[in-house]
Amino acid sequence: MVVGNWKMYVEAPDAAKKFATSLRKKARSFAGAEAWLAPAFPLISPVAVDLKGSAIKVGAQAISVHAEGAHTGEVSAKMLKNIGVSFAIIGHSERRAAGESDELIREQLTAALGAGLTAILCVGEDERLPDGSHFAQIANQIHRALQGVVPMGRLVVAYEPVWAIGKQAADAMQGEDLEETAIFIRKILSEALGRDAVSRVPILYGGSVEPANAQTLMKEGGVNGFLVGHASADIDSFIEILKACKK
Ligand code: 13P
Repeated sequence: MVVGNWKMYVEAPDAAKKFATSLRKKARSFAGAEAWLAPAFPLISPVAVDLKGSAIKVGAQAISVHAEGAHTGEVSAKMLKNIGVSFAIIGHSERRAAGESDELIREQLTAALGAGLTAILCVGEDERLPDGSHFAQIANQIHRALQGVVPMGRLVVAYEPVWAIGKQAADAMQGEDLEETAIFIRKILSEALGRDAVSRVPILYGGSVEPANAQTLMKEGGVNGFLVGHASADIDSFIEILKACKK
C-alpha cells in the first residue's frame, strides 16, 4: 500500500479533483498495490466524491480527540467518516513538532479506532545515534501511543525517521537499515499488542520516498508499503511509486 500525505502541497479543489480523477483512471496500471490519499481538510470532500466507488481510500492528516461538542476549529472522526474518510494519519512528526504529546496521540488513536477509522500511527527517531539509542525513542513512541489501546479497527504503523523527511531519494534511509528497523518495530508491536496482532499491522516507511528509491526500498526494506509526502503530490511520481509496490 502507498499512502499519499499531501500535507499542504495540493492547495485547490480543482487540482485535487484532477489528481483524483487521473489516479482512478490509471488504477489498472498499479493493480496489486493499494492507493490511499490524505488531502488537507478542505480538499477531502471533493476528492472523496471523485473517488467514490473506486478502491482508492481517502483519509485525513489529523483528527480531533473529541467526539463532539464545543471544540472550535476541531474536526472529529465521525465528521470525517460522514464525508467518506476511512483512515487518519496520527502522530506525524510535523504535528509532534507542533506540540502534540504522546498522550494526545494516544487519545487521537483511540478516537480514530473507536469511530471505525483505520489509524496510521507515525513514529520515528529525530536522528540516528551511533550507540543505537534512537531505537529507544521509537520503542517509547509505540508503547506510549498504544498503552491501554485496544486496536478494535485496523492499525497501520508508519516509520518515518525525521532526519529523512522532505529530502531527496539519495538522502532517504537505506534498505538494509530499514529492514533492521522494521524487524525492531515488529518486536515492539508484539510486546505492546501481543504476538498475533503483529501480522495484522502493516508497517510503512516514509521519508523521501521517490520513484528513484521505491523499488529498492520495497525489495530490501521489509515493509508493506510507503507513506509518501512531496512525491505524492505529483501524479506521475505517485503512480511510479505505486507500481514499485505491485505484488
Ligand atoms: P517526504 O516524502 O516529503 O519526505 O515526506 C514524508 C512524510 O512526512 C510523509 O508523511
